Amino acid sequence: MRTLTVSLADRSYPIHIGVGLVERAGALIAPVLKRPRVFIVTDETVGGLYLESLLKSLDTAGIRHDHVVLPAGEGTKSFAQLEALLETLLAARVERSTTLVALGGGVIGDLTGFAAAILLRGVDFVQIPTTLLSQVDSSVGGKTGINTRHGKNLVGAFHQPRLVLADTTVLDSLPRRQLLAGYAEVVKYGVIDDPAFFGWLEKHGPELLDGDAKARIHAISTACEAKARVVAEDERESGCRALLNLGHTFGHAFEAETGYGASLHNGEATLLHGEAVAMGMVLALDLSVMIGVCPPEDAARLRAHMEAVGLIVDPRQLPGAPDWDVERLLEHMGHDKKVLDGRVTYVLARGIGQAYLCRDTDPGRVRAAMTEAVTERTPAP
Ligand code: GLY
Repeated sequence: MRTLTVSLADRSYPIHIGVGLVERAGALIAPVLKRPRVFIVTDETVGGLYLESLLKSLDTAGIRHDHVVLPAGEGTKSFAQLEALLETLLAARVERSTTLVALGGGVIGDLTGFAAAILLRGVDFVQIPTTLLSQVDSSVGGKTGINTRHGKNLVGAFHQPRLVLADTTVLDSLPRRQLLAGYAEVVKYGVIDDPAFFGWLEKHGPELLDGDAKARIHAISTACEAKARVVAEDERESGCRALLNLGHTFGHAFEAETGYGASLHNGEATLLHGEAVAMGMVLALDLSVMIGVCPPEDAARLRAHMEAVGLIVDPRQLPGAPDWDVERLLEHMGHDKKVLDGRVTYVLARGIGQAYLCRDTDPGRVRAAMTEAVTERTPAP
């Protein structure tokens, strides 16, 4: 097991990364509890797989527990589910000393974290993220919240967990597509400021995706270490934390157009968040090339790696994609949370490992990059 720390003075907390941590969760959680009482929030899919093992480990550690199982899916990050969850928690007479435990992916983590932030004006919570995406991103850093009809994550709070347990074993039950979507967020850390890690991923990414535990622990630790550093420096995103949004501004536009996972193709979401981030990152580098700051070889290298592991980076090739409408996509980008004085802040890159924030990107260039990404190429004469 590897342990990292997110350094935030008296709110600092450990992230444990390793094999079989759910089975050992009771002993690992015990030291951070005010009282030996927890309330677990999970969803039907994850609960069916790991709840029993978690309960057993809590029993062994002498920790009292209750739990609630919510429907799986993005729809659970809603006002209605938040209200129902708070009612359930209050009806169970949770106290300020009770710790909530989020057992699930980003939806459960974000909802539970937000409930913890506002319940009794704030109770502690622990994250046990069960997707690669939530292990390397949403479970670390204290962003919590829900979606509204105006967009994703527009209501929420910064509320840091007391502990994060990233169990690499649970990734074995993750569908390949979900794993790949999470992998895009892993690659993001290489592109932001760690070219050596990007090189490592080019070599070892396939092993990680195929289940190699050592490769997984290394990649998740490196990603979490990078995130922990950024969060320690800029918890509330007034500066460098915005770099973590690499690929997200473009990505959100594609997600919005596909209903944030609600639009289906062959019974499955047309586009997952991590897949949108993969497309968005490639577009961000293409835009960086277009404005002359990034060598074309670096953009090509990112594209090649994403494609080599099986991610779709060309929005035109997405099965079940709508007819992308450039104006609508640009409008979605204008609604990004990070808009300042009506201007979108873009995360661009001078190359792999050299991301930077750009507040005065030429809108004409953005339009050109988006147009090139989503419009049919004219066949060569
Ligand atoms: N997902 C970006 C952040 O946590 O800041």
